[in-house]
Amino acid sequence: MKPLKRIFVVGGELTTFIGKGHPDFVWKKHPDFGKRENPTLEQYLTQAINGALEKTGVDAEAIDRGFVGNFAGELFNSQGHLGAMAVRANEKLVGKPFTRLEGACASGGLAILSAMDALHAGSDVVMAVGAEVQTTVSAREGAGYLARASHWEEERSIDEFTFPAMFARRAKHYKEAFGVTDEDIAHVTVKAYENANKNPKAHMCKVSWDLESASKPGDRNPAFLGNEDLKPHLKVSDCSQVSDGGAAVILATEEGLKKLGKKPEDCIEVLAYSQATSPLGQVKDYTVLDNTKMAADQVYADAGITPEQVQVAEVHDCFAVTELLMYEALGFAEKGRGAELARAGETSLTGKIPVNTGGGLLAFGHPVGATGVKQLLEIYRQMKGQCGDYQLAERPEIGLTANMGGDDRTTVCIALKDV
Ligand code: CAA
Repeated sequence: MKPLKRIFVVGGELTTFIGKGHPDFVWKKHPDFGKRENPTLEQYLTQAINGALEKTGVDAEAIDRGFVGNFAGELFNSQGHLGAMAVRANEKLVGKPFTRLEGACASGGLAILSAMDALHAGSDVVMAVGAEVQTTVSAREGAGYLARASHWEEERSIDEFTFPAMFARRAKHYKEAFGVTDEDIAHVTVKAYENANKNPKAHMCKVSWDLESASKPGDRNPAFLGNEDLKPHLKVSDCSQVSDGGAAVILATEEGLKKLGKKPEDCIEVLAYSQATSPLGQVKDYTVLDNTKMAADQVYADAGITPEQVQVAEVHDCFAVTELLMYEALGFAEKGRGAELARAGETSLTGKIPVNTGGGLLAFGHPVGATGVKQLLEIYRQMKGQCGDYQLAERPEIGLTANMGGDDRTTVCIALKDV
């Protein structure tokens, strides 16, 4: 959809993403174990909401509506009704309409889309916030919760680690169809961790992978699936993180900017946005993200831009192979040639189309409901020169996000430009 009126991203805030492997994350091997607790879902929502208000200098009173992205609060945290949880963050938000959105790992993207729809419906200043806390259970138990984003009856039995197995299946088919190797895929992992090592907010800010270790299974890199057919096609280094965290952004119309005393130049602008949804459990071809391609084609058409014009992208790399498939669905590479882009370093910070500059889901982390919101904020931060050590040498003017739910079943794309 091309916005019917101009829509601006005023700014926002994200928390540090943490989980196993992050120095601040308390677990049984941490010296603070038993002495302090990790932040709760409510604390992440509060930090993100108040952080966004503070960073942008927006008074909470000015927020007309709010949308909360979260996938599985009921399961991980025994907590639903997150609109009403969010407004506990700030007394000036009490009474304002805040609503929770769920679309698996695209929940954050859907919160942003609903926020933009609210601007079309007459609101002037809106907030989209996303948060998830997943470390309350083991990765194996959590995998069962995340499997609710598949067709439970038909797909849960593929493996106890349902989503890792579904993307191992994509890796298997993709490798067989195009002669792609595990080393090709490992280039994505190495880039993600290199970027995250420059990003203090990243879950994996202190962990690194070299190409050799990320290319094959080993003691540090187990092939952990139970499904014997798929097991050779996925290792720990291929997976996004089980992270906790939150992110919030504020969006406004031109009228809203006036009310906030801000100018368009302080912001970035939404050129177009799209959502595509495909039926659960019915992937036709494991070597393409055809739902994402539908969303991308629509957003390019509505924004009036081509893939060649995109100067920075945030894509849903829930697994390393997914990033290669994303390059192809978003038109950065021809079908079957995504690996060439990664191998040549073209998606690194110094390449022609930098992708996931802060580390992506693989290494920045993937607190599911926060991910789509973080993606938008990352494009904003790159365009405004706020990315510190991973800031691109030349500030990008056109950017794209692709946030995906399930096995490419719901995708949200947003095209953006600096003002
Ligand atoms: N040798 C052999 N096996 C080993 C091993 C070793 N040295 N170390 C671990 N394992 C095996 C074990 O079987 C272990 O499970 P159990 O302990 O329950 O037996 C399993 O590997 C996992 O080990 P850990 O729990 O120690 O692993 P971890 O906590 O470090 O987590 C991970 C690693 C399992 C890869 C985890 O990071 C993960 O699950 N990542 C993926 C998260 C995910 O799927 N997110 C959703 C993405 S899909 C999406 O985005 C779309 C959507 O809508 C859902």
